[in-house]
Amino acid sequence: MRQSLVMGNWKMNGSRSEGLALANAIAAGLKDGDKGIAVCVPYVYLSDVQGATKNTPLALGGQNVADQESGAYTGEISAAMLKECGCTYALVGHSERRSYYGDTDESVATRFCQAQKESVIPVLCIGETLEERESDTTFSVIDRQLNAVIDMAGIDALANSVIAYEPVWAIGTGKTATDDQAQEVHQYIRQQIAAKSQVVADKIQILYGGSVKPDNAKAIFAMPDIDGGLIGGASLDAASFLTIYQSI
Ligand code: PGA
Repeated sequence: MRQSLVMGNWKMNGSRSEGLALANAIAAGLKDGDKGIAVCVPYVYLSDVQGATKNTPLALGGQNVADQESGAYTGEISAAMLKECGCTYALVGHSERRSYYGDTDESVATRFCQAQKESVIPVLCIGETLEERESDTTFSVIDRQLNAVIDMAGIDALANSVIAYEPVWAIGTGKTATDDQAQEVHQYIRQQIAAKSQVVADKIQILYGGSVKPDNAKAIFAMPDIDGGLIGGASLDAASFLTIYQSI
């Protein structure tokens, strides 16, 4: 049985005080022994949230990580820095990074490897655009994004990672993939991994992301290959995020 995981992605929202209030409210809604819940916080607030959530079940993640270890890379944040700020996870290859900031399949794979070097668990985000879905290239896009990482890191490296399938057309749009549409791609991802390693395929958590809300989470999470969610908008409200977490 795979451990489920519900992860919030705050993106570039809120202030320090709002972030602290949100983290405190989420942590207050958890009990000792709860597992599989995390928030990806803007870099500059990570230390504050780390302090506020110490000794609670709420884990932390960065929203990206540098593709280099250290040095003259102005504006970048290394995996070691994330680790120091208490991050268990780092998103890599979020579609907003890929589409607005030029993160390529190759640089996403390098970021994945950098995170793992510091034992930060990379959360590899993959997914097709609406155009790609409509032209029936969803599976080849998934193959390309996944294989870039497998080719660089090796299949066994995926055992210590998480995948988030996020159809780009469902992110922040209020359009969720149907449960069956999501399951179909999750199953495909797991089969592609299983073709290389059944052990890794059985272990890896594959999250769904894209307009997950309190009222659709339960049905999505009930699908056999969906192990949790990566939640954007609805993670900015503690009650909604906790309801989604409790829908697992
Ligand atoms: P959304 O974002 O839940 O607001 O659609 C998901 C994401 O971008 O990870």
